[in-house]
Amino acid sequence: MNSITWHPLSETLSLQRDTIHIVRVGLESDDQQLDQFQALLSPDESARADRFKVSHPRRHFIVCRAVVRQLLGQCLGCDPTSVEFDYGPHGKPAVRQAGGPRIEFSVSHSSDQGLIALTLDRRIGVDLEEMNSAVRILKLATRFFSTLEALELASLPEAEQLAGFYRGWTCKEAYLKATGSGLSFPLNRFSVSLNPHVPAQLIEVVDQPEELTRWRLLPLEPKAGFAAAVMVEASADEVVSWQLWSVR
Ligand SMILES: CC(C)(COP(=O)(O)OP(=O)(O)OC[C@H]1O[C@@H](n2cnc3c(N)ncnc32)[C@H](O)[C@@H]1OP(=O)(O)O)[C@@H](O)C(=O)NCCC(=O)NCCS
Repeated sequence: MNSITWHPLSETLSLQRDTIHIVRVGLESDDQQLDQFQALLSPDESARADRFKVSHPRRHFIVCRAVVRQLLGQCLGCDPTSVEFDYGPHGKPAVRQAGGPRIEFSVSHSSDQGLIALTLDRRIGVDLEEMNSAVRILKLATRFFSTLEALELASLPEAEQLAGFYRGWTCKEAYLKATGSGLSFPLNRFSVSLNPHVPAQLIEVVDQPEELTRWRLLPLEPKAGFAAAVMVEASADEVVSWQLWSVR
């Protein structure tokens, strides 16, 4: 993990192609705050919120989507309620824009935390997971990871396997979210490095070797007990800066 500082977000994000903004959001809210957030959602988003059977995920979804709207509204110079989304074939949301440089963003939430990544004209994906030491990681890795990844995980010292597993999980999800394919792209068709001591990178995409030099990965620990990763479309010779922000 790196030790980059998270700054309170007190200004409008300045979106530039070479800057990757990562915004950490606490998703807990009281009832009054929740009402204010819900007022920012579109009717279809409110209907989706109403379909949640369990209260906490419903509340977290509302807060997270409302903060996404606030951030995008600021970037577009419009009211959060005016932001419109289109959805890719596998559900990836994209801002509806008339023209100009494309605002790219990605969202992930886990438990009471959300993470939103934004940039300009570069595909981006983010994933956040609360780490759970009770999961049977070697069994899950054998089932869901590539052979290369499962072997690397098993070769790590036992004390590092939990971190290695979540490094792999979040990096893999970040890639699937950056491309927008979601789980339609098989998890065993590509590999990421899992060793928490080496820089995270995409190390194999079956039949698509050109992918390896197309993407940059940033693993993060946004809060103790959580693992996250951001995958952004940027080759090794491009300079990008990472800006980490906290809201709420
Ligand atoms: C939907 C998916 C893209 C991510 O789901 P997830 O990890 O459960 O949830 P996250 O909180 O990280 O991401 C949800 C957000 O991703 C976005 N999203 C949905 N579909 C997406 C897609 N195809 N591409 C990119 N982003 C997508 C939405 O903004 C969504 O936010 P919302 O629920 O507030 O609308 C998909 O990859 C999935 O179902 N993953 C299951 C997780 C899994 O089994 N992983 C195996 C371990 S390696």
